[in-house]
Amino acid sequence: MQHLGVIMDGNGRFGVQKYGERSLGYTDGAKALVRAVKDFSELPLKYLTVYAFSTENNKRKKEEVSNIFNTIAYFLKYEIYPLLLEKSIGVRFIGDLDGIQAELKEIVRSAPELSGEKTLIIAINYGGLNEIVRTTKKILELGKEITEKTIRDFSDLQGVPDPDAIIRYGGYRRLSNFLPMQSIYSELFFTDKKWPEYEKKDFQDIIEQYETIKRNFGE
Ligand code: IPE
Ligand code: IPE
Ligand code: MG
Repeated sequence: MQHLGVIMDGNGRFGVQKYGERSLGYTDGAKALVRAVKDFSELPLKYLTVYAFSTENNKRKKEEVSNIFNTIAYFLKYEIYPLLLEKSIGVRFIGDLDGIQAELKEIVRSAPELSGEKTLIIAINYGGLNEIVRTTKKILELGKEITEKTIRDFSDLQGVPDPDAIIRYGGYRRLSNFLPMQSIYSELFFTDKKWPEYEKKDFQDIIEQYETIKRNFGE
């Protein structure tokens, strides 16, 4: 397995359960991401794509949206970037990055430019339908034809193989607008654990199970 996608859901519910407040779940969610990136450096994976904020999440209360953006900004700058430098892991962002808060945009822009063997891909203000619109617009603006190849070449994950597997935390069995074009043949895993409860064994189990699955790609 080369590429694992992760839908980091259940942070708000974890906050309510542990501290009596949704907002406190996001710090624990961010800490779980730091652990996951450490584990990624040791696991036989080349790409890890994490869903941090969806285009639809903008519909939440203003205070919650800004708390999530602030948490992402803080953890990127002080925890994730230093860790990526230490482990020589590259980073890439996907999503509609024009639409994010200025401070976070600046932090995204100042991401370390490392091209290690592994790449962490962070989806912020990402929506699959939004990606389809942005991708097709780019192709049309360049006067090119819409083909499966141009769609791949101008989409957010250009040059990255589709996720072999996707895991969703938080108990729901849906993809919530995560990578609709790239998940066409992904193996799907769901866990009732909330994202802040992440542990290395979760990814190890998926990698192990994945190896036993016969993939046909329609053939
Ligand atoms: C995942 O957590 C989404 C974001 C970080 C924006 P939620 O905020 O959706 O947590 P639950 O699902 O309400 O518990
Ligand atoms: C999916 O979780 C988005 C992220 C994890 C970033 P949501 O909480 O937004 O999904 P729904 O609304 O329950 O489908
Ligand atoms: Mg949720």
